[in-house]
Amino acid sequence: MNIRQLSSHEKPPMELLLVADPSPQIVVAYLKRGRCFIAERNDQWIGVYVLLPTRPQTIEIVNIAVAESYQGKGVGKYLLQHAITTAKTMGYTTIEIGTGNSSIGQLALYQKCGFRIVGVDKNFFLRHYDEEIIENGIQCTDMIRLSQDI
Ligand code: COA
Repeated sequence: MNIRQLSSHEKPPMELLLVADPSPQIVVAYLKRGRCFIAERNDQWIGVYVLLPTRPQTIEIVNIAVAESYQGKGVGKYLLQHAITTAKTMGYTTIEIGTGNSSIGQLALYQKCGFRIVGVDKNFFLRHYDEEIIENGIQCTDMIRLSQDI
Protein backbone atom coordinates (compact mmCIF):
# COMPACT_ATOMS: atom_id res chain seq x y z
CA MET A 1 0.00 0.00 0.00
CA ASN A 2 1.23 3.48 -0.90
CA ILE A 3 0.02 6.76 0.58
CA ARG A 4 0.47 10.00 -1.35
CA GLN A 5 -0.99 13.46 -1.66
CA LEU A 6 -3.56 13.85 -4.40
CA SER A 7 -2.32 16.22 -7.08
CA SER A 8 -4.38 19.24 -8.10
CA HIS A 9 -5.40 17.73 -11.48
CA GLU A 10 -6.76 14.50 -9.93
CA LYS A 11 -10.43 14.13 -9.01
CA PRO A 12 -10.90 13.54 -5.26
CA PRO A 13 -12.47 10.18 -4.27
CA MET A 14 -15.88 11.66 -3.35
CA GLU A 15 -17.56 8.29 -2.77
CA LEU A 16 -14.90 7.34 -0.21
CA LEU A 17 -14.93 10.79 1.39
CA LEU A 18 -18.70 10.63 1.80
CA VAL A 19 -18.33 7.42 3.85
CA ALA A 20 -16.78 9.59 6.58
CA ASP A 21 -19.13 12.56 6.22
CA PRO A 22 -22.57 12.41 4.64
CA SER A 23 -22.55 16.09 3.67
CA PRO A 24 -21.10 16.79 0.17
CA GLN A 25 -21.03 20.54 0.96
CA ILE A 26 -18.86 20.02 4.05
CA VAL A 27 -16.55 17.58 2.17
CA VAL A 28 -16.06 20.03 -0.72
CA ALA A 29 -15.34 22.88 1.73
CA TYR A 30 -12.69 20.76 3.49
CA LEU A 31 -11.10 19.81 0.14
CA LYS A 32 -10.81 23.48 -0.84
CA ARG A 33 -8.95 24.38 2.36
CA GLY A 34 -7.04 21.15 3.05
CA ARG A 35 -4.66 18.62 1.54
CA CYS A 36 -6.09 15.28 0.47
CA PHE A 37 -4.05 12.07 0.85
CA ILE A 38 -4.97 8.72 -0.65
CA ALA A 39 -3.92 5.15 0.05
CA GLU A 40 -3.51 3.07 -3.12
CA ARG A 41 -3.28 -0.67 -3.55
CA ASN A 42 -3.09 -2.36 -6.96
CA ASP A 43 -4.14 0.90 -8.66
CA GLN A 44 -7.22 1.06 -6.44
CA TRP A 45 -7.90 3.87 -3.96
CA ILE A 46 -8.66 2.14 -0.67
CA GLY A 47 -8.31 4.95 1.86
CA VAL A 48 -8.33 8.69 2.20
CA TYR A 49 -7.77 11.49 4.69
CA VAL A 50 -7.73 15.27 4.52
CA LEU A 51 -5.40 17.46 6.59
CA LEU A 52 -6.92 20.85 7.35
CA PRO A 53 -4.90 23.68 8.95
CA THR A 54 -7.14 25.24 11.61
CA ARG A 55 -4.98 27.52 13.79
CA PRO A 56 -1.28 28.46 13.82
CA GLN A 57 0.68 25.25 14.63
CA THR A 58 -2.53 23.18 14.59
CA ILE A 59 -3.87 20.89 11.91
CA GLU A 60 -6.92 18.62 11.91
CA ILE A 61 -7.51 15.23 10.33
CA VAL A 62 -10.90 15.39 8.66
CA ASN A 63 -12.70 12.89 6.42
CA ILE A 64 -10.62 9.81 7.21
CA ALA A 65 -12.14 6.77 5.51
CA VAL A 66 -11.22 3.25 4.40
CA ALA A 67 -13.10 1.37 1.64
CA GLU A 68 -15.56 -1.02 3.29
CA SER A 69 -13.91 -4.23 2.06
CA TYR A 70 -10.57 -3.10 3.54
CA GLN A 71 -11.86 -1.97 6.94
CA GLY A 72 -10.64 -3.71 10.10
CA LYS A 73 -7.29 -4.71 8.54
CA GLY A 74 -5.08 -1.95 9.95
CA VAL A 75 -5.40 0.52 7.04
CA GLY A 76 -7.08 3.19 9.19
CA LYS A 77 -4.36 2.95 11.84
CA TYR A 78 -1.70 3.23 9.11
CA LEU A 79 -3.43 6.31 7.63
CA LEU A 80 -3.56 7.96 11.07
CA GLN A 81 0.14 7.28 11.68
CA HIS A 82 0.91 8.66 8.22
CA ALA A 83 -1.16 11.80 8.95
CA ILE A 84 0.67 12.36 12.25
CA THR A 85 4.12 11.99 10.61
CA THR A 86 3.08 14.25 7.70
CA ALA A 87 1.79 16.96 10.06
CA LYS A 88 5.01 16.78 12.09
CA THR A 89 7.11 17.08 8.91
CA MET A 90 5.04 20.12 7.90
CA GLY A 91 6.01 21.78 11.19
CA TYR A 92 2.73 21.51 13.10
CA THR A 93 2.88 20.88 16.86
CA THR A 94 -0.71 19.84 17.50
CA ILE A 95 -2.92 17.46 15.56
CA GLU A 96 -6.64 17.19 16.20
CA ILE A 97 -9.50 14.94 15.19
CA GLY A 98 -13.21 14.90 15.97
CA THR A 99 -15.81 12.19 15.94
CA GLY A 100 -19.38 11.53 17.01
CA ASN A 101 -20.32 10.45 20.53
CA SER A 102 -21.81 7.31 18.96
CA SER A 103 -18.66 6.36 16.97
CA ILE A 104 -17.35 3.83 19.50
CA GLY A 105 -14.85 2.12 17.16
CA GLN A 106 -13.40 5.43 15.96
CA LEU A 107 -13.03 6.67 19.57
CA ALA A 108 -11.14 3.44 20.40
CA LEU A 109 -8.92 3.71 17.33
CA TYR A 110 -8.03 7.39 17.83
CA GLN A 111 -7.07 6.81 21.48
CA LYS A 112 -4.98 3.76 20.45
CA CYS A 113 -3.15 6.15 18.08
CA GLY A 114 -2.27 8.56 20.89
CA PHE A 115 -5.14 11.07 20.78
CA ARG A 116 -6.66 12.29 24.06
CA ILE A 117 -10.18 13.61 24.54
CA VAL A 118 -10.02 17.37 25.09
CA GLY A 119 -13.58 18.53 24.70
CA VAL A 120 -17.15 18.07 23.57
CA ASP A 121 -18.84 20.25 20.97
CA LYS A 122 -22.37 19.79 22.25
CA ASN A 123 -25.18 19.38 19.70
CA PHE A 124 -22.71 19.73 16.79
CA PHE A 125 -24.48 17.06 14.70
CA LEU A 126 -27.93 18.47 15.50
CA ARG A 127 -26.78 21.90 14.32
CA HIS A 128 -25.01 20.78 11.13
CA TYR A 129 -26.94 17.76 9.80
CA ASP A 130 -30.61 17.59 8.84
CA GLU A 131 -30.91 13.79 9.05
CA GLU A 132 -30.88 11.96 12.37
CA ILE A 133 -27.73 9.80 12.71
CA ILE A 134 -27.90 6.59 14.76
CA GLU A 135 -24.81 4.40 15.32
CA ASN A 136 -24.35 1.51 17.71
CA GLY A 137 -27.91 2.19 18.88
CA ILE A 138 -26.89 5.68 20.07
CA GLN A 139 -28.04 8.98 18.55
CA CYS A 140 -25.09 10.98 17.27
CA THR A 141 -25.56 14.44 18.78
CA ASP A 142 -22.18 15.68 20.06
CA MET A 143 -18.72 15.97 18.52
CA ILE A 144 -15.98 14.50 20.73
CA ARG A 145 -12.80 16.52 20.18
CA LEU A 146 -9.43 14.73 20.46
CA SER A 147 -5.92 16.15 20.28
CA GLN A 148 -2.29 15.09 20.34
CA ASP A 149 0.95 17.04 20.75
CA ILE A 150 3.42 16.03 18.05
N1 COA B 1 -13.59 -1.36 20.75
C1 COA B 1 -12.24 -1.37 20.82
N2 COA B 1 -11.43 -1.25 19.74
C2 COA B 1 -12.05 -1.10 18.55
C3 COA B 1 -13.44 -1.06 18.39
C4 COA B 1 -14.23 -1.19 19.56
N3 COA B 1 -15.57 -1.16 19.51
N4 COA B 1 -13.73 -0.91 17.09
C5 COA B 1 -12.55 -0.81 16.43
N5 COA B 1 -11.55 -0.94 17.33
C6 COA B 1 -10.12 -0.91 17.07
C7 COA B 1 -9.65 -2.19 16.46
O1 COA B 1 -9.46 -3.18 17.43
C8 COA B 1 -8.35 -1.74 15.82
O2 COA B 1 -7.31 -1.60 16.77
P1 COA B 1 -6.10 -2.69 16.87
O3 COA B 1 -5.33 -2.55 15.60
O4 COA B 1 -5.35 -2.27 18.07
O5 COA B 1 -6.78 -4.02 17.01
C9 COA B 1 -8.73 -0.36 15.36
O6 COA B 1 -9.80 0.11 16.17
C10 COA B 1 -9.22 -0.39 13.91
O7 COA B 1 -8.12 -0.20 13.16
P2 COA B 1 -8.09 -0.35 11.58
O8 COA B 1 -8.34 -1.73 11.10
O9 COA B 1 -6.81 0.28 11.19
O10 COA B 1 -9.31 0.57 11.12
P3 COA B 1 -9.97 0.68 9.67
O11 COA B 1 -9.01 0.35 8.61
O12 COA B 1 -11.27 -0.01 9.66
O13 COA B 1 -10.24 2.27 9.60
C11 COA B 1 -12.01 3.84 9.91
C12 COA B 1 -11.00 2.92 10.58
C13 COA B 1 -12.83 4.54 11.01
C14 COA B 1 -11.27 4.92 9.12
C15 COA B 1 -12.90 2.99 8.96
O14 COA B 1 -13.54 1.99 9.70
C16 COA B 1 -13.91 3.79 8.19
O15 COA B 1 -13.63 4.24 7.08
N6 COA B 1 -15.13 3.95 8.72
C17 COA B 1 -16.16 4.71 8.04
C18 COA B 1 -15.82 6.17 7.94
C19 COA B 1 -15.62 6.83 9.29
O16 COA B 1 -16.33 6.56 10.24
N7 COA B 1 -14.64 7.75 9.35
C20 COA B 1 -14.31 8.47 10.56
C21 COA B 1 -15.18 9.63 10.74
S1 COA B 1 -14.85 10.40 12.32
